[in-house]
Amino acid sequence: MSRQPCGWRKQDRFLRAFCSRTRSKKKGPGSEGEFTSPQRGKKFARTANFWTKKREGPVSNDQEHMKEAAAIAALEAIEPKLTRETVVGVGTGSTANYFIDALTRIKHKFDAAVASSAATAERLESRGIHVIDLNACNEVRVYVDGADEADGQLQLIKGGGGALTREKIIASAATEFICIVDETKLVEQLGTFPLPVEVIPMARGLVARSLVMLGGQPIYREHFVTDNGNVILDVHALDLTTPVETERAINNITGVVTNGLFAQRCADLLVIGTPSGVELRTPSRGS
Ligand code: 5RP
Repeated sequence: MSRQPCGWRKQDRFLRAFCSRTRSKKKGPGSEGEFTSPQRGKKFARTANFWTKKREGPVSNDQEHMKEAAAIAALEAIEPKLTRETVVGVGTGSTANYFIDALTRIKHKFDAAVASSAATAERLESRGIHVIDLNACNEVRVYVDGADEADGQLQLIKGGGGALTREKIIASAATEFICIVDETKLVEQLGTFPLPVEVIPMARGLVARSLVMLGGQPIYREHFVTDNGNVILDVHALDLTTPVETERAINNITGVVTNGLFAQRCADLLVIGTPSGVELRTPSRGS
């Protein structure tokens, strides 16, 4: 793989089984298919609902396999923790969509979900999962979401889909934050993926100039409005060697709602789909 994790403690490879599964049918984007999980001895419906792609080039079916394997592994990790009172936080994006599809199978085992975007709320509700407002619950037991980049300290860049603010709010509220990625998202250092910054529309120019002062090259994401009615600046070329400080510095710019660095509140567990199986990682010791 082109991007190597840096000094991560590999905790487990117990879910190799997911990558050795066989498919009875393989169809193109947006189609319904069915695949067989021989290890579990049962079949379940699969929706290949491809979400907006943010990376250059086509996303291979292998990458989709890895995303789905990570999502299913996250489900297996949280299932024993669920009670009929549990509220589950659910992220946004193609990997999170695989998680929603898996979560549907155990919807009778928890109370409700809080959604990090309108799109996620719609998908959850369409599958019969009760969605509640974050203000209506005392505890979000676990939040599961994807990421655009993840490093060895489980610090992340998120917001490629523009849902970063609600994602950060739910991650902050959650007792546990599980991030699900395919291995292409792993990086030595954050910053190859442009950092999304959500901005109050009237402050766009002001914030862009401040981001340039910080060494970045902000690009206005055209024809995009967040669920909160704001705009996004995607910031290229930022030096993210100290992500916690940069996260704070950008959030301190007047007009910024928040930015896509999840460094202060990083993931507690990273679930990585790889060609050879699923790996679970926690932050390196001493971080
Ligand atoms: C949306 C996000 C997503 O989690 C991130 O963009 C990853 O998306 P995908 O799973 O489709 O690769 O932060 O705002």
